[in-house]
Amino acid sequence: PEDVGILALEIIFPSQYVDQTELEQFDGVSSGKYTIGLGQQRMGFCNDREDIHSLCLTVVDNLLKRYNIKPQEIGRLEVGTETIIDKSKSVKTVLMQLFEPHGVTDIEGIDTTNACYGGTAALMNAISWVESSSWNGRYALVVAGDIAVYAKGAARPTGGSGAVAMLVGPNAPLVFDRGVKGYFFKHAYDFYKPDLTSEYPIVDGKLSVQCYLEALDKCYQLYCQNAEKKWQKPVDIGKFDGLLFHTPYCKLVQKSVGRLALNDYMRLPKDKRAALPELQKFVDVELSKTYFDRDVEKAFLTSSSEVFAKKTKPSLLVATNLGNMYTASLYGGLVSYLVSKDVSELAGNRLGLFSYGSGLASCFYSVTIKDSPALKTLIKNLSYVKPLLEKRVKVAPEKFEATLELRQHNAHKFPYEPISDVSNFFPGTYYLTKVDEQHRRSYSKV
Ligand code: ACO
Repeated sequence: PEDVGILALEIIFPSQYVDQTELEQFDGVSSGKYTIGLGQQRMGFCNDREDIHSLCLTVVDNLLKRYNIKPQEIGRLEVGTETIIDKSKSVKTVLMQLFEPHGVTDIEGIDTTNACYGGTAALMNAISWVESSSWNGRYALVVAGDIAVYAKGAARPTGGSGAVAMLVGPNAPLVFDRGVKGYFFKHAYDFYKPDLTSEYPIVDGKLSVQCYLEALDKCYQLYCQNAEKKWQKPVDIGKFDGLLFHTPYCKLVQKSVGRLALNDYMRLPKDKRAALPELQKFVDVELSKTYFDRDVEKAFLTSSSEVFAKKTKPSLLVATNLGNMYTASLYGGLVSYLVSKDVSELAGNRLGLFSYGSGLASCFYSVTIKDSPALKTLIKNLSYVKPLLEKRVKVAPEKFEATLELRQHNAHKFPYEPISDVSNFFPGTYYLTKVDEQHRRSYSKV
């Protein structure tokens, strides 16, 4: 099959958010710390009616309905998440409730987990499946979703929540470029969830940023090598129309664009580097010693500021308004980029995408946007995203804190009857109605 990639995209997020300026005041930190220092405006969060099952049920149901896809047309369904509520039973099996009533039970695929990378791993599996001899001619459906919550402290404002579903098949408008991906995997304890009774990770914030930047360097260098070999043309950030990143917080993404500019600079022959007067003092820097070097950071933030404004900022709409959606973060970036432009501007674009999951797993890959009726449908069908973000209800920081405490106390309680109000939930939202004596969960739909 040709042009394998994404044919349809659907995103969902909680109907409530906390304002980051109000959270700064409430937390007693300096004004601007979350909004400027981290680049975050609003953070979406879930109450005790929502869990990973309800988010994924909603997003899959919405996608099938919006695109009028019959359950029989899906041959593979895979979920990427790090929001684990069962050590054995996958979220995918829960989603089978949407297919079984239609007599559809022969759907391959299961869950994939490694921090924020699981969604990308699931997506790559789906692409490979369609390209393989196992493919049966049906679509693959990939779901990336998470509830990102941190214990009280510096990491809490970098939470978020949401899910993205992606329909994968041939003749797609978003085509995955073959043979160019750059991967980087290694053992690191930067962010992990060893306490199975808690929703909160253990996080070494500084190490996680260092790991993220190291992974970006390594993946991008490999991508450039592969792409130059394949296309027999030099590759640098100028060759992309959009540069999209996993977004723990928007400021890190801005720094990441600077980091790619630094990589491009270091890939130049030394005499060419030395010929750039404003960057001359960096001619001999070692990448691995510059993760927190203020001079380097500032110089390349400045040199890449136009690239950031043009190629990356449009991809941050969802991230700045919702926060980190973990596995769904990069794909919320893709949705944001797509809704920021007209179809005519998008056709022919090449996007570079960086996926990162702590622990760690990462990939830099690219997608080429092909003009077709399917592209028009895809963009038209995403027109609900901006109005829906604005339709959310703002909740005071006190209530946000109380809601997180409610989740914390009841995360694994059974039997349990959730108490939160569902009256503000968007139409079509699945929600938890009870957890019974055997830990079995039941859901209803608004
Ligand atoms: N006005 C403007 N900027 C400010 C202000 C202010 N009033 N106060 C602080 N800042 C800036 C700081 O200078 C700093 O900028 P810098 O990044 O350029 O150095 C930034 O805000 C962050 O402040 P810090 O004090 O350095 O860091 P903090 O203790 O707030 O922690 C961190 C930030 C590490 C990101 C924390 O939120 C965290 O651990 N988050 C979770 C982990 C994470 O997201 N890691 C990223 C990759 S892994 C993943 O995806 C989970």
